[in-house]
Amino acid sequence: MSDHTPASESPGSDVPYGQDALGQDRAHSARLYDYFLGGKTNYTVDRDAARDLMRILPAIETAARVNRAYMHRAVRYAARQGVRQFLDLGTGFPHSPNLHEVAQAVAADCRVVYADTDPIVLVYADELLDSRPEGRTRVMTADVTRPEELLATVAEEDVFDLGRPVAVSLHAVLHLVPDAEQPHDAVGRLVDQLAPGSYLSLSHCTGGLSPATWRAVTEVCARHGIVAQPRSRSQIRRFFSGLQLVEPGLVPAHRWRPEAGSGPGLLNSEQVCLYAGMARKT
Ligand SMILES: C[S@@+](CC[C@H](N)C(=O)[O-])C[C@H]1O[C@@H](n2cnc3c(N)ncnc32)[C@H](O)[C@@H]1O
Repeated sequence: MSDHTPASESPGSDVPYGQDALGQDRAHSARLYDYFLGGKTNYTVDRDAARDLMRILPAIETAARVNRAYMHRAVRYAARQGVRQFLDLGTGFPHSPNLHEVAQAVAADCRVVYADTDPIVLVYADELLDSRPEGRTRVMTADVTRPEELLATVAEEDVFDLGRPVAVSLHAVLHLVPDAEQPHDAVGRLVDQLAPGSYLSLSHCTGGLSPATWRAVTEVCARHGIVAQPRSRSQIRRFFSGLQLVEPGLVPAHRWRPEAGSGPGLLNSEQVCLYAGMARKT
């Protein structure tokens, strides 16, 4: 378990929102994830939920860091393929290196749109706007289940040329969207609008490797007000329908093009419980 610096009880006390608007009545996925990454943007409700989850799945903090390390490798990969436009959907709170820092380290002119459905995430987005002058970043609210609205806003903001390839990241977000909201359909509609040469990268929790544990995880999440829907490998694979998976395909996240020094070592797939993969639109 990592050593967490005690988090402030009121990380948003300097912003013009009342307590209810900050959502301190229940745990939020972005703040829970922030806690697992050792961040300070979380409240007592989030830390209570995090500790309940860690009792069932002690490796959950490690899985969060594996997920982040996967993002770094996937973004570097897309930038090295020549992609210069990145859309990060379900951004969460900043944790350096953020996606634009990784992309702009490969090519300074990369442009990045960060989007999240949780307005609290946007309150803390300053670091995400710290683009290299050659590139550009934007932050916006958007819901993965409404890709048409998202792309209309992206076009309005004039950050991207949607006629050119975009690398879309859906990292650790789709397991927060239940089947009732038809996430497969939404991702398909999003990909349909992208230019050939675009990439879709996603990471997604799975219950397939440890079903009893994940039944307990989803129950604890529900008790704390978070909808979680882990999916099987084949259900996750369906998000890539019509796309060409990049080698090594959809694999436990720490096995996707591992690099020395990228993320925690000495893991097995049951601990990680997270599939990751990237595919290209031809
Ligand atoms: C676990 S965090 C992942 C952060 C980041 N993508 C990463 O992998 O490091 C999940 C984020 O997805 C956001 N989210 C949840 N449902 C969403 C939706 N329907 N549309 C967009 N974002 C969503 C949450 O607010 C949260 O910030």
